[in-house]
Amino acid sequence: MTYQEICENARKTILNCRACPECNGLGCGNTLPGPGSKAPGNGANVNWQAWKKIRLNFDTFAEDEPVDTGTELFGKHLALPLMSGPIGSMTQYSREDVTVAFNDGVMEGTAKTGTIDTFGDGIAPYVLPGALESILRHHADAIPVFNPMPNASIIRKMEPFEDHALAMCVVVDSAGLSHWKHAGDRPGSKTVADLKEIRAHTKKPFLVKGIMTVKNALQAVEAGADGIIVSNHGGRALADVPGTAEVLPEIVKAVKGQTTVIVDGGIRHGVDMVKAIAIGADAVLICRPFAVAWFGGGADGVSAYIDMLKREFTEAMYMVGARKVSDLCPEMIR
Ligand SMILES: Cc1cc2nc3c(=O)[nH]c(=O)nc-3n(C[C@H](O)[C@H](O)[C@H](O)COP(=O)(O)O)c2cc1C
Repeated sequence: MTYQEICENARKTILNCRACPECNGLGCGNTLPGPGSKAPGNGANVNWQAWKKIRLNFDTFAEDEPVDTGTELFGKHLALPLMSGPIGSMTQYSREDVTVAFNDGVMEGTAKTGTIDTFGDGIAPYVLPGALESILRHHADAIPVFNPMPNASIIRKMEPFEDHALAMCVVVDSAGLSHWKHAGDRPGSKTVADLKEIRAHTKKPFLVKGIMTVKNALQAVEAGADGIIVSNHGGRALADVPGTAEVLPEIVKAVKGQTTVIVDGGIRHGVDMVKAIAIGADAVLICRPFAVAWFGGGADGVSAYIDMLKREFTEAMYMVGARKVSDLCPEMIR
């Protein structure tokens, strides 16, 4: 199954998304609820553009050895430094709530390809129990991503995952999602003390998603985060913020070695992954294309998309002179 076939298939059923050949935020604009960005709707495209502005240096003066895309993350060996992104509620793409089936399909596809799944806590009460069943069914390396609800609610939701999740994550920038403001238990901003309290309730690696400044990266480290996800929620939480590729270098400089750095936002191809890792990220997270991949081909669509990323990542690594993921470095960027 090619990515083009996946997109053609997805277009038959997916709502609010045009399953564009290149998922760059232009087709969905400010469609919210839906996969778009906060009005005026430019955020996802700003993220995508920021990666495209980065240029790579050729280096074919190297031993002609095969490329190894494997890496270690949170004590796990991965086939490539990739995570699928969380989508808390698939009602943004469909009239029926298909969130449980989506999480199941993505977990099957990521488990089959040796990568990591992350999933959202959703609004509907069946989302988290469904995800737990899928982790067990597929032996998936999966990470629940909890919206910034009151601490007691997050701590209660984490508990069933303590023995089964690879890590736990709280997404702090969901505080800015307008379409969530009507939920009963509404998301809000967190202090370092709040995050420390959540951190203390799990023995798993603890991640904070939604970091866009050095200040917040250092605060997440102070709160005990084993990993941060540099992310602006795909442009959905606040308009006119920088692309994640713009802030990644300064954040890496400030916290590298103290915490694992993951980045998302407009990463679509293996070549973008090479740029992110060369700047200093340990792994990338990709979200929207996984919705298209699942609508277009279920779990097989998901693994076909990951296989494409792996081929592209391998080729781009080879051309910048990297044979192992740890060879990727800033000198490979012009
Ligand atoms: C429809 C939709 C729903 C999302 N739901 C969540 C969520 O529940 N939790 C979360 O942390 N991020 C959520 N996100 C943000 C993504 O996980 C990711 O951070 C963002 O889309 C940027 O990645 P991308 O450009 O690859 O899509 C959602 C994004 C979309 C498009």
